Amino acid sequence: MCKKVETEDMTEPLYIEDIRKEFPILSREVNGKSLVYLDNTATSQTPQSVVKAMTDMYENHKANVHRGVHTLSQEATDMMEAARERVRGYINAESTDEVIFTRGTTEGINLVAQSYGASLSNSDEIILTVMEHHSNIVPWQLLQRNKRISLKVVPINSNGELRQDMYESLFSENTRMVALTHVSNVLGTINPVKKMIETAHRKDVPVLVDGAQAAPHMKIDVRDLDADFYTFSAHKMYGPCGVGILYGKKKLLQTMPPYQGGGEMIQHVSFEKTTFADLPFKFEAGTPDFVGIAALTKAIDFIEKYGIERIAAHENRLLEMATEGLLEIPGMRIFGNAKEKSAVLSFLAGNIHHYDMGLLLDKLGIAVRTGHHCAQPLMNALGVEGTVRASFAIYNTEEDVMRFIEGVKRVSSMF
Ligand code: ALA
Repeated sequence: MCKKVETEDMTEPLYIEDIRKEFPILSREVNGKSLVYLDNTATSQTPQSVVKAMTDMYENHKANVHRGVHTLSQEATDMMEAARERVRGYINAESTDEVIFTRGTTEGINLVAQSYGASLSNSDEIILTVMEHHSNIVPWQLLQRNKRISLKVVPINSNGELRQDMYESLFSENTRMVALTHVSNVLGTINPVKKMIETAHRKDVPVLVDGAQAAPHMKIDVRDLDADFYTFSAHKMYGPCGVGILYGKKKLLQTMPPYQGGGEMIQHVSFEKTTFADLPFKFEAGTPDFVGIAALTKAIDFIEKYGIERIAAHENRLLEMATEGLLEIPGMRIFGNAKEKSAVLSFLAGNIHHYDMGLLLDKLGIAVRTGHHCAQPLMNALGVEGTVRASFAIYNTEEDVMRFIEGVKRVSSMF
C-alpha cells in the first residue's frame, strides 16, 4: 500500500512512494544505510523518464543539430527546437527567440553580464543583493577589470528578507541593472521580485532574475513578472546536467552583442567581416547539449504531471516538520525565517562545525550540503563561516525528515 501524502491546498494527494520508484538512486544505500537525499538545492535527482530520453537520443537520433540535411540531423534539430518551444510555453515567454540554451544559470548570468555589460560606462552602477550566489556577483565583478562600475548591495533584515526600504534608496541616475535571486539558496527566502522589478522599471532599469532555486519550486511566468532576463538550470528541476535556460526580452537581446563566437551563431563569415545569426542562435555558439536539451522536456512533463503547486506544498510541509524538529535541539540556530520561504533549511547546532555535522550525517546515510554554499558575502552578513543545509524535493518523505532530525540530534549529543 502506497503512503498517501496529503498536502494543504489540493484535492489530489501525491503518492510519494510511487514517485520515488521513478528515481532508482533513492533505493541505494550509503554507508550501509538507506539514502536520505536532502541536497536538492545543489542538484535534484533525475527520474527515469529523463534518463530514458537521453539514452533514446544517444541510441537513435544523435547527430549534430542545425547542420545537416540528413534525416538524423533533422530529427535531432526538431527535438531540440521542440524543447525550446516547450520551455517557452512553460515560462510563458512570448517567442522562442527569447529562449537561449546555456550550460546553466551561471552561464546565463555571465552571458548577460558580458554582453549587456559591454554597453556600460565608467561610473555606471549595478544593484545586487547580499544573498546572491557567487554566480550573480563574480560575473559583474569581472566587468570591473575594464570599467569603473560600482556594485550596490541590498542588505537583509534579521529574518533574512531583503530590506525593501534600502533597495529603493540604492537607485541613482547611474543605475543600469538590477540583478537578484528569486529564491536564496541558503535562506530559502522567496524575494518579492515582481514588486522589485516594478520599482526598477519605474526608474527605467532592467532586471535580471537568477531563478535557479525558484524554477524547481514555483510557477515561473516571465511576462507576469515582467523580468528582462530570467535564468535557471535544468539539473535542479529534475532535468539533465549541463543545460540552462536564459530568457531575455527580445528587444534587449537584439541590441546585445554575441557572448561567444563560433559555429552556429553566424550568418556569414569572412576574414574582413562576419555577420551574426538571428535570435536565439546569435547567443548559442558551438554544438549545444542537444541531448540534455531534448530530455529537459521530460523533466517539465514530470513537474507538470504532479503540479508545481502540489510539489511545493508537499516540500513546505516537510520544511515545517524539519524546522520544528531541529528547534527542539538546544543551541540550534536556523538561518532564514522569511515569511515567504522555500524548502531550504540552513542551520548550525551549538558549536559543531558544519563540516563535522555533514560528515557524521553522511555516515548515517543522510546527504546534506555544508559550507558557504557559494554565498560568502551572505555568510559574512550572517557572521558565520558556513552552515549545514538540508533541502527538500518531491520525493522526500516524512521518514526522511524523521531520520534527518534523529541524525542531527545524535550528532549533537556526541559533542
Ligand atoms: N548553487 C548550488 C547550491 O546552492 C550548487 O548548492
